[in-house]
Amino acid sequence: MIHYVDDLSHVREDMLRGFFVGWPQRPSPRQHLAVLRGSYRSVVAIDDGAERVVGFVNMLSDGVLTAFVPWLEVLPEYQGRGIGGELMRRVLEGTERFYSVDLVCDAELVPYYARLGMRAASSALLRHPAALEG
Ligand SMILES: CC(C)(COP(=O)(O)OP(=O)(O)OC[C@H]1O[C@@H](n2cnc3c(N)ncnc32)[C@H](O)[C@@H]1OP(=O)(O)O)[C@@H](O)C(=O)NCCC(=O)NCCS
Repeated sequence: MIHYVDDLSHVREDMLRGFFVGWPQRPSPRQHLAVLRGSYRSVVAIDDGAERVVGFVNMLSDGVLTAFVPWLEVLPEYQGRGIGGELMRRVLEGTERFYSVDLVCDAELVPYYARLGMRAASSALLRHPAALEG
């Protein structure tokens, strides 16, 4: 059974295996957990049977008007079961008071986020792969 938590006190690094599929360099589990704990809000999906995190989303925010969703990922073997949608619904809960909630995604995923009321926009990126420990 999958359950969702936003309190990360019981999430350990070893529960975060298998994420960042396809990334040439990845965050280490240490960085991954620190990102989730340091975010304004994070929600993880846990498979009780496997004692494993199978999906996560995090949000950064000024807490007043602006929020950003940097990461959403569901492990490949758990995709297509509504877990990503549930993570997004949970992380967006109560954010109507913010002026903006933004994220960056590939064009093919815009329809996925449009279901949640989001719309396409252009973006500009700066990346430092050397910051990733994994
Ligand atoms: C995108 C992602 C989080 C969706 O998670 P999920 O649990 O499979 O999503 P849900 O089960 O809630 O929804 C599945 C729907 O998303 C669609 N979808 C998933 N990945 C997609 C992609 N790359 N392009 C287009 N649609 C996609 C599926 O086609 C499916 O559509 P349907 O409901 O009409 O059948 C997951 O595929 C993932 O982790 N992908 C790799 C990382 C990634 O791309 N993250 C988003 C960064 S912006």
